[in-house]
Amino acid sequence: MAVDAPRIVVEPPGPRAREVLERDERVIMQSFTRWYPLVVKRGYGAVVEDVDGNRYIDFNAGIAVLNVGHNHPRVVEAVKRQLERFLHYSLTDFYYEEAVSAAERLARSVPISGGAKTFFTNSGAESIEASIKVVRAFFRGTRPYIISFLGGFHGRTYGAMSASASKPVHRARFYPLVPGFIHAPYPDPYRCPFPGLEGEACGEAAVSYIEDYIFSKLVDPGEVAAFLFEPIQGEGGYVVPPDSFLPSLQKLARKHGILLIADEVQTGFARTGRMFAVEHWGVEPDVMALAKAMGGGLPLGAAVGRSEVMSLPRGSHANTFGGNPVALAAFNAVMDVIEGERLWERSQRLGEKALKILGEAAEELSIVGHVRGKGLMIGVELVRDENTREPHKEALAWVLDRSFKRGLLVIGAGVSAVRIAPPLTIEEELFDRGLEILVEVLREADRRFSQV
Ligand SMILES: Cc1ncc(COP(=O)(O)O)c(C=O)c1O
Repeated sequence: MAVDAPRIVVEPPGPRAREVLERDERVIMQSFTRWYPLVVKRGYGAVVEDVDGNRYIDFNAGIAVLNVGHNHPRVVEAVKRQLERFLHYSLTDFYYEEAVSAAERLARSVPISGGAKTFFTNSGAESIEASIKVVRAFFRGTRPYIISFLGGFHGRTYGAMSASASKPVHRARFYPLVPGFIHAPYPDPYRCPFPGLEGEACGEAAVSYIEDYIFSKLVDPGEVAAFLFEPIQGEGGYVVPPDSFLPSLQKLARKHGILLIADEVQTGFARTGRMFAVEHWGVEPDVMALAKAMGGGLPLGAAVGRSEVMSLPRGSHANTFGGNPVALAAFNAVMDVIEGERLWERSQRLGEKALKILGEAAEELSIVGHVRGKGLMIGVELVRDENTREPHKEALAWVLDRSFKRGLLVIGAGVSAVRIAPPLTIEEELFDRGLEILVEVLREADRRFSQV
């Protein structure tokens, strides 16, 4: 094996990790879900080393951020070069060529024809906020509504949170939310919100519901500015919609002059086997929200859209750090690596291999209810019963912890899915070894939980 991983020298959390955890609890607001006590010291490629010297295979990629792996030499080199030139000079007040080149590069990469313009941000949520403002302003306030989807996750700021509907805890303490969001059912083919339907029929039903119920009983389609959707739901469970869903949604949007905002924050930049996930279905968004993998680990995002739509007037929207030149240098290197190595093809190939291996495990193990995904964005759904498909949260928690202790980093998505999102550059040997560990752990879980 190219690298010595996994290597567990002391059961985590080891003594150094425990010390950091204690200090963390005293000074960091504990508002987030920590999956397990991993305390990172360094990363290289698809390997993470913790503060006690343990080495893990990374199937998280910093939550779908490190598409070209940890510390890719080209990214590090590009960042160093930019550090010596200038670190910051607010793009929304002045000019620099690095931002223009990056926006030109984005315009060439996104599946938006006829020219695209970019607004740079620092995060996914901020890209969503910008997208919401852009589409509402485009219609000069005459279309106040945005239809987003149940199970969708768009971020934690007020607009993004109001658009999201993946877990009640994300919203519970924070009312009142931003008005104007309507949540439609998302066609999860495994747990279709329309009883008795599966697959394509579920996708068609989701679009018909918007027409037959939302448009005929709640709001006129002429009051709706946009559909905001994740082409594959991320946080909501790595849910791939039926093939007909997005093309039908696009058709409905065009019929009523409604814009499409694709949230590709998690699915973008070759993660799913295409540069952007909407390309799987030939869908052309009007606006795309991007972030995560864009900066190679540095905070960078963008709202990119048709030039005609990206038309907010001067003074109406800006930020201090968006399009930071160091993050843009990293972006440029990330794009060089993705394009140079055609990483979408690698993502597709390794993803198919994983679906096959995990699919075979699903047939053998009653705890695995469903395996789905595109490219290296794969969800493994754990259930109490294959027939009722009742989620098995307890088994999920056990599988994640057990994998961690065996040197594999994976986390959950939705209620009870294991999410697999390694760097797209992961060495194939490491990838195979990671899958092997996961299947062994799933086997153990099957034995353990089917006895009770
Ligand atoms: C699809 C999607 N949209 C938006 C966001 C929010 O991004 P950020 O955490 O950078 O604000 C996320 C984060 O996980 C996401 O997965």
